Order: sequence, then structure tokens, then C-alpha cells
Amino acid sequence: MKLERSHELWEEGKKYMPSGVSAGGRVNVACGMPHYIDHAEGARLYTVDNQEFIDYHGGSGASMFGHKHPRIQAALEECIEKGFLMNYDTEKTIEFAKNFTKLVPTVEKFRLLNSGTESTMAAIRIARGYTGKDIVIKLDGHFHGMHEMVWYNHNNYPPIVDGVCETVPDSAGIPRAFTDLIKVAESNNLEAVAKLVEKYKGNVAAIIIEPICFNMGCSMMKPEFVRGIREICDAEGICMIMDEVITGLRFRPGSAAGFYGVQPDITTFAKALGGGASISLVGGKAKVMDICSPGGIVGVSGTYSGNQLGVYAANACVSMALEDGFYDHIEAFGSKLFSGMEDLMKKHGLPGHVSSLGARFAIYWGYEDRETDYDLRASQKLFRRDLANAFINGALDRGLYFHSYWNANIPSHCGFSVQHTLADADITLEKMDAVMADMKKLL
Ligand SMILES: Cc1ncc(COP(=O)(O)O)c(C=O)c1O
Repeated sequence: MKLERSHELWEEGKKYMPSGVSAGGRVNVACGMPHYIDHAEGARLYTVDNQEFIDYHGGSGASMFGHKHPRIQAALEECIEKGFLMNYDTEKTIEFAKNFTKLVPTVEKFRLLNSGTESTMAAIRIARGYTGKDIVIKLDGHFHGMHEMVWYNHNNYPPIVDGVCETVPDSAGIPRAFTDLIKVAESNNLEAVAKLVEKYKGNVAAIIIEPICFNMGCSMMKPEFVRGIREICDAEGICMIMDEVITGLRFRPGSAAGFYGVQPDITTFAKALGGGASISLVGGKAKVMDICSPGGIVGVSGTYSGNQLGVYAANACVSMALEDGFYDHIEAFGSKLFSGMEDLMKKHGLPGHVSSLGARFAIYWGYEDRETDYDLRASQKLFRRDLANAFINGALDRGLYFHSYWNANIPSHCGFSVQHTLADADITLEKMDAVMADMKKLL
């Protein structure tokens, strides 16, 4: 793979930005460097070195509609024509509101923000303001953005004792005072959650979950666990927060809340919502959301909240997702790609499997048993980082863009877009055949 220009830009970038990147996540940890992209179209990325990739990173989940989607582009152009209004709502905001709540009926009212991080920050403030309580329970391995209220126990794995573990910040710079307000239970362990609720009885504001935890691969919460959390929250007056920043829009019906048939009190959306334009949403039951000021007592606002570029793009995305047959292609592409990949793993004698839901997936190198995906700690023991890194580097060499966010023993989530064609799946599988043939030497 040609990387000369990427290397030059990276060296230049290091003069101005720590590690030479605008965000830590731009570095692809498997190959230790960022790739500099010139432009993108449909399912493809084109690098500054004129290399073409079929994109399976998908902008960390933001590019579910692919690149330069004609309908999103037309919406953005219409918005630019209107003066890309800032700090006002418009007819488009109301059109978006109607469309979004139709697509995700568990959200009755919402506020708009710009990133997933902002939306979970607002969700927790709303929960605390609504309940008048302070403690938040999160789950081991789940990720909800990079802020002091939730950034714990995603990169750190202290011992689990009776289903609970010590709260460990995932970054330096998080004061103890914040850490004390977060308690961590094991995923899919309802008894452990109930135990923490009992221990902090009367002071738990929220239980926040990633319903399908793509931040530890593609680890589903069991339906009985999700329903059990709903019941605990109802019984104890706690807000259930479902963080749908990754899952939102990605599968039918009504994203993860619809999939589980559970209405959370508060939900967060970002990534695919804007199809590449910056927008996020915190929403939920009307009685909870009405706590937001100026009508209520919790502040949720911002200069760029409801920015029209985001609103126009999100309205285009949601309108597409509402159309009949929209999810058919996602399902057809996914089943072709994933069964093809697993056939190749078998052909080359490589241990592994693909877990997926909708347009996002994780490749679990090292073991076949899908039940283990429910259990982060068991999965980590079996996961083969060496195979994962070899796969990503081999894929990059052959024109498939896969990204690794970390070096931990957890697969990074990958994805495809509505613009990936079945012919792209064939090309991909042909390239993967060669990648996996090379990986056999690692066995
Ligand atoms: C489930 C989840 N919540 C929140 C966030 C934070 O979103 P953002 O990166 O847009 O701030 C992420 C980002 O990956 C996420 O996966």
C-alpha cells in the first residue's frame, strides 16, 4: 500500500497536533498511524496517495448512508442556499421532529445537540434533575462518550466480585468526586444491577446501558436483562437510559428500543442520525423531557444545538429509513458478507466468527461460540489480538479499510453502508480470501 503522502502529512501534523491527529481515534491502532483521505464516494474512500479502499469503518458508525449520498448532499445544498441558519428552529426542524418520532416512537420529545458525548451528558443531567438523585449505574465495558459522568470501565477491567467492580476512570484528569457517583455492574447480570440499586437505595438517578454493546465488539444485552432493568427502574423511580448512539437507525424497527420492545425513559442518538453531518439527540418520555428549561429546571441547550446543516441531513436520513424496503438491502448485504466471511474462516482453518446486528458488526478472532460474546471477560480471554491485527493490516494492504480503536482484547466495531452493493460484497470476499490465506502462518 502506498503511504508516502500520508506519512508526510502525519509528520507535518505532529508539529501542530498531539500525535499529529485532530482526535485520538484517527490513529488506526492496528497499523499505528492515521490514514489521510482525499475524498470519499459511495462505499469507497480515496487516500491522498491515490489508494482506493472499500470502507468498513464507516466513520465510526456515522457513515451508515455511505459517502456523498445524493439525498443527503441535496439536503445540505438546500440548507446552504437558505443561509445555513444557526441558532433558530425552522420548518425543517419540525418536519424532522415528526419524521424522527415516527421512526422511533419510544421517543416522545427530544432536544438536539451535536455529538454522542453531549447527548449522554445531557441524558444524565436530565435523569438527575428529574429524579433529584445523584448515583448512576453503568455496565462493565460499555462506553458512553468521553466525559466525567460516564467515562469509566471501558478500557479498564478491574476484577469483578459478585457481579460488581471498582469504578475506574478511562482517562487521567477525572476527579475522584465524579468517580464516586458512578457504580459499575457486570453486563447481562441483573442480580448485580439489583444489588447496586439496593446498596444505594433512594439515591440512584439512572441506569445507563448500551443495548447492543458495539464498544465491546457486538455484545447483545439479553432481552430478559433489558426488560429486568426496565422493571427495576419502574419499581425504584430510576431513569432507564438507553444509549443508542451506535445502534440508532441501524436496524428495524425503531432501533434498539424497538428491537427489545422496551421504552427507556431517556435515549440518546448520534452517529448515523446525521449521515455524516454533526447532530445528536437526547429524547424520551414526554414527562421526563419536559424537565428541560425554559419550561423546566434542567438546562439542555447550546449555540450549535439544532444547527440546520445537521437537521437537514438528519431529516434526509430519517426520511430514507422510513421508506419501505430500506432495511432489506442492509439485511441482504450483511447476510452475504458475514456468511461469506465465516466460510472463509473455515476454509483457512482460522478460529473466529462474525457477530452483527443491522449494518454494524464485529469480527471475533479466536473462538466460535457466540454465547461467549455476551460475557466480556470470558470473550477477552479467548480473543486473538494477533489475528485481529494481522487481518486489519492484510485488509488495508488489499484495499479494504478496517480500523482498530484499541489494542485491548476486544474487537473494534466495523460497519457497512446502504451504498455498499452486493457486487462490493463479492469483491470484498475475494480480497479477504487472500488476507486469510496469509493469516494461516499465525496458527
Ligand atoms: C455508545 C456510544 N455512546 C456515546 C458515544 C460518544 O459519541 P461521540 O463520539 O459522537 O461523542 C459513542 C462513540 O463512539 C458511543 O459508541
